[in-house]
Amino acid sequence: SMLEAAHENDLELEGKNHDFFVGACEGSLACSTCHVIVMDMEYYNKLEDPTDEENDMLDLAFGLTETSRLGCQIV
Ligand code: FES
Repeated sequence: SMLEAAHENDLELEGKNHDFFVGACEGSLACSTCHVIVMDMEYYNKLEDPTDEENDMLDLAFGLTETSRLGCQIV
């Protein structure tokens, strides 16, 4: 997933942007801290649709938008 890729590449994303890749539950869909807003509609439309579980978590995310996703679920 995007979250794993970020970790593998040792990107220090934590704390830089609170909406981006904080990933408190490490991708187990138990938090919404990895909430990302996809800015590119074209890219958004290429992504797999979010699962019901992801949507449930997204409902709890701060500042939800039309193109919000959970970073750990974007593969
Ligand atoms: Fe917790 Fe993505 S890291 S839902």
